[in-house]
Amino acid sequence: MNTPSKTETPRVDQFFMAEESRFDRWRNLLQASRLWDRSFALQDSSKAQYQTAVTSAFQELRQWEDFFAYPGEKLLASLENRIFSGDATGAARLIQSIGNALLTHSYRANVGDWESEDETPINLGERVPVAGEDTATHPPYFEVLVVSPARRTAWQQLAQDLRRLRGLQDRFVYEPVFVSSFEDAVLATILNGGIEAVIVYEGISLHSSHNSPVLREFLTSHLAVGGISPDSADYSMALAQGLKQLRPELDIYFLSDRKVESVAGDVNANFLRRVFYQVEEPLELHLSILDGIADRFDTPYFDNLQKYAQRPIGTFHALPIARGKSIFKSNWISDMGKFYGINIFLAESSATTGGLDSLLEPTGNIKVAQDKAARAFGADHVFFVTNGTSTSNKMVEQALLGPGDIVLVDRNCHKSHHYGAVLSGAYPLYVEAYPLTQYSMYGAVPLRTIKKALLDLKAEGRLDRARLLVLTNCTFDGHIYNPERVMEECLAIKPDLIFLWDEAWFGFARWSPFYRRRTAMGAAAILENKFKEPAYRAAYQEQEKKFGADLNADEKTLLGTRLLANPGKVRLRVYQTNSTHKSMSCLRQGSMVLVKDQDYHTVEEQFHEAVFTHASTSPNLQIIATLDVARRQMELEGYELVNRAIQLALDVRREINSHPLISKYFRVLGADEMIPAEFRNSGFVDYLVLGVNWATVVKALREDEFALDVTRLTLVCGSAGFDGTQFKNLLAADFDIQLNKTSRNSVLLQTNINNTRSDIAQLIKVLVQISQGIEKKLVEGGKSAKSAFEARVKSLMTDVPDLPNFSRFFDRFRENPSSRTSEGDMRAAFFAAYREDQCEHLKLSSPEIDKRLKDGPELVSANFVIPYPPGFPIMVPGQVINAQTIEFMRKLDVKEIHGFSAALGLKLFNLSFLQSVNVPIKEPIANTVRQGKPKTARAASGD
Ligand SMILES: Cc1ncc(COP(=O)(O)O)c(C=O)c1O
Repeated sequence: MNTPSKTETPRVDQFFMAEESRFDRWRNLLQASRLWDRSFALQDSSKAQYQTAVTSAFQELRQWEDFFAYPGEKLLASLENRIFSGDATGAARLIQSIGNALLTHSYRANVGDWESEDETPINLGERVPVAGEDTATHPPYFEVLVVSPARRTAWQQLAQDLRRLRGLQDRFVYEPVFVSSFEDAVLATILNGGIEAVIVYEGISLHSSHNSPVLREFLTSHLAVGGISPDSADYSMALAQGLKQLRPELDIYFLSDRKVESVAGDVNANFLRRVFYQVEEPLELHLSILDGIADRFDTPYFDNLQKYAQRPIGTFHALPIARGKSIFKSNWISDMGKFYGINIFLAESSATTGGLDSLLEPTGNIKVAQDKAARAFGADHVFFVTNGTSTSNKMVEQALLGPGDIVLVDRNCHKSHHYGAVLSGAYPLYVEAYPLTQYSMYGAVPLRTIKKALLDLKAEGRLDRARLLVLTNCTFDGHIYNPERVMEECLAIKPDLIFLWDEAWFGFARWSPFYRRRTAMGAAAILENKFKEPAYRAAYQEQEKKFGADLNADEKTLLGTRLLANPGKVRLRVYQTNSTHKSMSCLRQGSMVLVKDQDYHTVEEQFHEAVFTHASTSPNLQIIATLDVARRQMELEGYELVNRAIQLALDVRREINSHPLISKYFRVLGADEMIPAEFRNSGFVDYLVLGVNWATVVKALREDEFALDVTRLTLVCGSAGFDGTQFKNLLAADFDIQLNKTSRNSVLLQTNINNTRSDIAQLIKVLVQISQGIEKKLVEGGKSAKSAFEARVKSLMTDVPDLPNFSRFFDRFRENPSSRTSEGDMRAAFFAAYREDQCEHLKLSSPEIDKRLKDGPELVSANFVIPYPPGFPIMVPGQVINAQTIEFMRKLDVKEIHGFSAALGLKLFNLSFLQSVNVPIKEPIANTVRQGKPKTARAASGD
């Protein structure tokens, strides 16, 4: 028999599973109630035992249900009554009906689900909407948290009052959830992702009415992660502030019985959407709640595009596809019309008037949509970009950098940044990420390396030239920086340094209270506040006493000290780019540039120029619309969706690493394997390691130099005898599983807001099948198969090439070849290579290469060489090629190497160019005669 579920010690991963573990509790209860019901039919003598199991499963579940409007007190009371009165059949039926309503969310639209008499048969198969079915015929439903010290009877009265105010014209419908204390309000907000607005009354109490240890730990961890402290005389205001930290998208209404004007006039309380006097009419409150949701729901561009599509517009502009007439009437291409449906053609236009707006110079609904995105992402300004983050990066770099500026950049970053340096003429000063040689990938750039580069520039008197730091947060493989710390310490050395955080993969992170502080905008908000704090100023003054305003201390000391920025001098200038299409519901190429720059006005003109340079004059309207809609979704359900993606990732990690068969051949790397211990100062090992608790996790997220994004799962497949590309192809060809990045011995799996538990089940099933296949082959193939397998595994897992670091730019491309820092004029090298008479090719296997490596003259790359994987340039124009790089190239067994043709060999600058030291390197290309095109293909696009 199923024993009653006990309160277990909470595992860390359970904290992301609010929704799943709720369903699990209902499933447990259903199972227990079915056994109880069956015991009657079977005349089982242990009925009482079964009833006890149901009672305890119900009690386990009951305390959590206070935080949700559905099923609500009435249904729960009815269920309790059935259980206690011994009505096993009635209890089982009601549990099944509630469980089904919760799973399918049907209670959001179906009034019958709220009635205990509803006993309609349940068909779980109907959970998935059929394609083309209009599921949105009812107004969207949400829940409102009411935190009130009033008695329960008064709660019911207010609930009734609010329900009575519902009108047919309402665009949304909501149900209230009542709690009375600070702690319960925090719990409700984090457990119930359906809460969209909170009404906080004055005079609430502090402590939760629930005494579950799981809830207690849940609460403590979230208070810590949000930096929320309830120990104030005014719990209500502390709560309002705290909830804004946890879920900034929520509308918060404050009901005061004091002088409301003083609360409303408090500049520190301007995050409140509205302040009411307690005894006033609920109508205003009701209308305000709906208005707040409408503000997030409205998608100005998408809404207008839909209206535009419905108008009988005659088009005389150059876009035959618009309205679809040439398609639907065609003898030959009408299938295209059928496939895409009419709306995509009705919504096509090249017009920027008539309800549409111009992406290049937005003044209407695109501007409003961008402003809403800025609010959602915590930025001051947002630019929508329809050519991917590849373009966003180049736009930011063109706008912020000029020829001769120094840009500190991770050599392992996306190629768009390298091209950004070419475009702008800025000198890249490459800073190296730590290598993960065993898995043929890089981690992230240690802060120490960045500080050292800045201090070197300072020592050489060139710090003023350092304008921008570019880092990838998080990296493709999931290394998350601590942007607060990086910016703070860099600003200590250079108070006006600008930061570009390439968060191509990390846009979703804003909606996780755990990840938010590690995003560019989250960290910028923290720093903005921190720099205003008197305590910070005092701490800075202490530092100044020690090192002076100019940090007069030796390098070792400065590298070993956690530096504070001068709050009186610092300029907070933070940019973030994100591939909205990579982590939100947006069409491919949808990207955003987020700006939080207190000196933005000084670069605004350049920014517009960069938009004009890079944005197509024919931007895709559907991409703009989905950028707008993606913002709406994240502001309304991002919290819930992101939690689920994190939870699914933890599920996959646990299932694979603990599965008796799969784990023999495959493994997902934990934080301890992806991030060396020296960067995990808090002692954090991994989320799923026994004994790790929430205090450790929160501490690690606050303090550690790097953290691992759990949604990015590096699955080691070399130990199963597959190289990354081979395994990726196998999954795609034989199992319909698609993934993107590979390394020599691993593949990268990602979970996102689109994944479901079924996807995970499919993946696990496939891995079992593949593992069984390996076992079978090994058994049937005997000794020889076993030794061939072992040799293959050894070659993939042990004989891995060292990853080559950036060497240096060739002297001719450096202003001062003897300087300590290695920045160079890559743009000059790039364009010098346009002249064929300055270049030559040498085959990779040629002995000439070895001879020159040994005796010179140096080999200097004439172009970018980017192998996929790993996907970063192992050579850039003007770079001196060393033995390490050649060895890496020779060992590379990937097919796709952009900028390199095996038939031609490496493209190098020729000897006469290298030796013509007196020719000025900035010779304008326009004045020279172009002598032919380069023969190797330039790097094409690719994730
Ligand atoms: C770190 C990083 N930045 C930028 C990009 C380019 O983004 P997009 O594909 O949106 O052009 C990528 C693409 O994979 C990336 O990995």
